[in-house]
Amino acid sequence: MIEGLRRLLPSSRVSTAAADLEVWGRDWTRSYAVNPSAVVFPETVDEVVAITRLANAEGGSLVPSGGRTGLSGGAVASHGEVVVSFDRMNRILGFDPADRTVRCQPGVVTAALHDFAEEHGLAYPVDFSSSGSSQIGGNVATNAGGIRVIRYGMTRDWIAGLTVVTGTGELLTLNQGLVKNATGYDLRHLFIGSEGTLGFIVEADVLLADPPSPSRVMVIGLERFADILEVLTRFQRSVTLSAFEFFSELALAKVVAHRDLARPLATPTAFYALLEFPAGDEQEALAAFEDTVGEGWVNDGVMSQSDAQARSLWALREGITESIAQQTPYKNDLAVRISDVPAFLDDVDRYVAQHYPDFEICWFGHIGDGNLHLNILKPAELPIDQFHERCHAISPGLFELVQARGGSISAEHGVGLLKRDFLSYSRTAAEIDIMRAVKRALDPNGVMNPGKLFA
Ligand code: MLT
Ligand code: ZN
Repeated sequence: MIEGLRRLLPSSRVSTAAADLEVWGRDWTRSYAVNPSAVVFPETVDEVVAITRLANAEGGSLVPSGGRTGLSGGAVASHGEVVVSFDRMNRILGFDPADRTVRCQPGVVTAALHDFAEEHGLAYPVDFSSSGSSQIGGNVATNAGGIRVIRYGMTRDWIAGLTVVTGTGELLTLNQGLVKNATGYDLRHLFIGSEGTLGFIVEADVLLADPPSPSRVMVIGLERFADILEVLTRFQRSVTLSAFEFFSELALAKVVAHRDLARPLATPTAFYALLEFPAGDEQEALAAFEDTVGEGWVNDGVMSQSDAQARSLWALREGITESIAQQTPYKNDLAVRISDVPAFLDDVDRYVAQHYPDFEICWFGHIGDGNLHLNILKPAELPIDQFHERCHAISPGLFELVQARGGSISAEHGVGLLKRDFLSYSRTAAEIDIMRAVKRALDPNGVMNPGKLFA
């Protein structure tokens, strides 16, 4: 396989150097062995086709790799796979103002697309804390969500067309940017969220939105999580929310210490919500805030008076992942229906207090979408494999709580390796059989990202 790759690509774009394998063989997870046989850097779609055909001919396996910011091990290569990095396919190929679509190579970094959209008087509204490193191809492969889903939806909602290379090396152009296209199965959507198990995303037509109006950010403190939906509903009655995020006091303490930031409120509370809304809704937001204080749901709050202050309030939420990274958190990315969130959080709180009495639990997430990030922090003295084993052992009980509410064991981080053995808590056996049949149709030789999503 490696000899074949060296025939296909110049030697500078096929690396077997240990340092490169270590960097490109992993994502942000830190608990899997990293052992690819090579990393390659194609520059054209034809090269991706040729690499895929070679892997089919030689019995090789391929791991697509974007910005490597994944949190479920979807881009980890542990078994001698060849990592196919899109770092050199990172150009914006065109923009059509009438269609409002940008044609992107898969390696375009999310923040570069944000900047491009802004330069053209528009916006790419999907955003998350890893936007400075994550790439469009990876975002599509995981159907990335983030901080403004409540208003703008997921990556899926912004993909007007895709060009893909299937697991057999066939090139497919899917939906071509059409708004309407009722011609049978929409294969584009099959590839969105497929985590590199069906093929490679080699181009994407990404939709842009109107530019956002100037916004305000408010952080409010609550003592009882049970009140958070009342607060959400009250604000939604009169304010157009573009974000409704939450974090626990422990999450705030971590980020404040890590980044040396100021606390938002004079007195700590058990939970905080961060709201973003148009500056024009400021009076309505203040009235809603006063109502929620009057009801006894909210203790205190602060509203940004400038863009700089809005950014520092956002840093309290967006800096959490980085601030807990050195404690190698075991990540759970759970979702239930929005209306079930408080009761679900109560169930989970009780369950984890019983099973992880010695672990720190760091909660944050996207309450407005019903998506809670439960991070179990590793005690410093516990070896990582023992920590992982304990968290894994406790997961079935946790996922039973998710299943009982028809929820998702991975709302936006993907299944990858981390949640693979638990897929049946969110998808039925019949569904998984159909997913396997789809995989067989598009990747009959099992070349693409083996072991991810399914064993
Ligand atoms: C976030 O919401 O900040 C991201 O999903 C990352 C994470 O969960 O750590
Ligand atoms: Zn998230």
